[in-house]
Order: sequence, then C-alpha cells, then structure tokens
Amino acid sequence: MDNYQSAAHLAESLRPVGPAFCLRPHAARGAARWFTSHFPGKTLYAVKANPAPWMLDILRDEGVGFDVASIAEARRARAVAPDAFIGFMHPVKSREAIREAYVSLGVRAFALDSLEELAKIVEATDDADDLTLCVRIAVSSDLAKISLASKFGAAPEEAPALLRQARLKAARLGVCFHVGSQAMSPAAFTAALDRVERAIVVAGVFVDVLDVGGGFPAPYPGMMAPPLQDYVDAIEARFERMLVAENCELWCEPGRALAAEAASLLVRVEARKGDRLHINDGVYGALFDAGALNWTFPARAMKAIEAPREVIGYSLYGPTCDDYDAMAGPFYLPSDMSVGDYIEIGMLGAYGAAMATRFNGFGEHQEFVVTDAPMLSAYGATGRPGAGAAHRNEAMT
Ligand SMILES: Cc1ncc(COP(=O)(O)O)c(C=O)c1O
Repeated sequence: MDNYQSAAHLAESLRPVGPAFCLRPHAARGAARWFTSHFPGKTLYAVKANPAPWMLDILRDEGVGFDVASIAEARRARAVAPDAFIGFMHPVKSREAIREAYVSLGVRAFALDSLEELAKIVEATDDADDLTLCVRIAVSSDLAKISLASKFGAAPEEAPALLRQARLKAARLGVCFHVGSQAMSPAAFTAALDRVERAIVVAGVFVDVLDVGGGFPAPYPGMMAPPLQDYVDAIEARFERMLVAENCELWCEPGRALAAEAASLLVRVEARKGDRLHINDGVYGALFDAGALNWTFPARAMKAIEAPREVIGYSLYGPTCDDYDAMAGPFYLPSDMSVGDYIEIGMLGAYGAAMATRFNGFGEHQEFVVTDAPMLSAYGATGRPGAGAAHRNEAMT
C-alpha cells in the first residue's frame, strides 16, 4: 500500500476519482497501547468496528484480544491471531456458530442473556467443562449517543435466576453489559456496575469475570467527552468495591475508541448547489453515522491557502439516488468549494468502512497509508480528548 504524508498530499499527487481511505496504523497502535497500559484488565477489541486485516494485525501485535459478534468475525480474528483470546460476545448465536467457535477456533468465552441461549451453548459444546459464560445484563444507555439498551440484556428481575443457572454450567462465570456507544460520561459505567452488583448480590453467586463492554468515546465535533483516564479511574474504583470473587478479572470491549482515529476519508465534490455539496461517498458508503445519526465528523478542505477565506456550513449529499443519502452537518468548509475539490472527513476508522454497502454500484474505497496525526485525538500528550488537535469541524487554512 502506498504511503503519503497526509490526505492533502494524497489529493494533490493522485487526485483519486473515487473515495479513498487514509489509514493511520500508528493511531490504532497508539490507542491499543493506551488501553493495554491504562486499563486494569483484559482489553478485547470489538471487531465489528473495523474488521480490516491491518487493524486486527496491529491489535494482535499489541496484545489485545478480540470480541466477536459472528462466526465470520471469529474466523477472521483466529486467522490473524492463532493464539489470541477471543470472546464470542453476541448474546444470540446459532448452534452451528457456537460449535465451530468452540471446536475449531478455540473460543471458550460466550455471552448469553437467556436460559434458552445457555442451553444452546451447553448443548453445542457437549456440556464442556471449560466455559467462561458471561451473562449480559440490561443497563441504561441514557448517557450514550447510541443506545444499545433495547435489544439485549437480562432484565433486573430475570438476571439473578439466569446467573444462578449459568453458574452451574460455567467453569468461570462472567457478567457483561454495554452502556451504549459513545458514552459521554464515566457515570454510565458506574451506574451500570451498581445495577450489576445488585443482580450478583440477589443471585448469591461468585463472579469470576466482570466485562464492562464497549462505549468508550472518541472525540467528534460537538461530542467531546471527558478524558478516557476518567473512565478507567471510575471503573477501577467501583470494581474495587464490587462483591465479586477475589481473583475476579476485569475485561473491556472497546471498538470505537480503538479504531476511530485510525482512518479518515478523502472524498471529492461532484456538484455544488448553494450550500449543498454532492460528494462521491455517503450514507450507504462509509458515512452512515453522518446521515442516519446526524453526526458531524471533522472535515477539512484540501485546497491551497488563499487567506483570508470565509468558512461556511455545508450539508453533504452522497452519490446514490436515495433521499436518505444526505448528511445535514453542518460541515464547515471554505465558501469557494467547487466541483473537483477534495475534502478529508476524519474519525472514520470505526463504523466507517465496516458499514459500507454496494447500493447503486457505489461503496468501493481505495486505501492508502498516511503518516500525519489524526484530525482529532483522545490520546494526546495529556491524555485529554482533543489535546493537540482541532476541536471543531473546520476548514484547513
Ligand atoms: C457486545 C459489544 N461489545 C462491544 C461493542 C463496541 O462498542 P463501542 O464501539 O461503542 O466501543 C459493541 C458495539 O455494538 C457490542 O455490541
């Protein structure tokens, strides 16, 4: 893969016709090192955020394990990491997937949120005696930007009975939860841990693994969360007071926080209609969250500097014929944007390429490595989100 100093350098020298990812492996490595050195337990990467082999290679090299949601993700993780720890953390799986994961891929940790799933895991593994069974408990997503509260997780009234049944079948009993993606306060985790502890106490079981899931935030314009260290400190302090087995292990499953900074997207303007720019990627490509969730990602124009230049807020439109292929923004860019200009859209290493479809014949992305810093970072010198980086969606001047 070719290397460039920056997206601007890439735009200038190659003038790519289609959308191009600017990969920053150094950013993924930095994020992985932060987690392995600051989180007081096992870090599992949520493969769904970005299953690209280069990303999995880096995380394996940095000693991170993998949280997989499907058998395809499990195969992918095992192919790049023959010795890595893999947890199958989707609470609903097919028997075939459980069996293959256990028998062929060496997976021993499984999530569940019902008695039915517990029976399935026991049956598909022939009543194995080396299982880590993690009961997913429903917790609030109120402090997160993306809810993960309504689909999975045993309700408070069901959790104790499920914990007791799982304890009977588990070599190691775990509890897991997800506070929702892009949790904007460490209180999301402490509140969840309060709820989990109540369930454990009512069940009267020993717990060997406490998995706090994903949800660790990445910096986006208008969504600057407290430093990641505050999250880890809050989790660690609450964990130390938890009524769990003395040798209980702490796990986390970040996706976004490990991957977001590791890629940006270089797009080209194909039409301008006032403050609307039609670009060559969109909601059905790598910009799902920009449209469906109305997230404003950092954006900068790859134009020569002609100061002073006025900056205005644009909305962006993707290449498909669908009305939903629209991103309200506003994305702040120079007022003289025109056809053929390039824009770099940052923080798309997580849930960017991973979400792209082939709708309308679009969805192909070229990939290049760039060596400059991500547009925003949670891993600056001070460890504070945004340290040393732009804090808002802005034009490159
Ligand atoms: C079980 C599980 N773990 C981890 C993650 C990763 O979450 P995030 O990217 O918010 O860190 C998800 C996201 O959907 C998930 O469902």
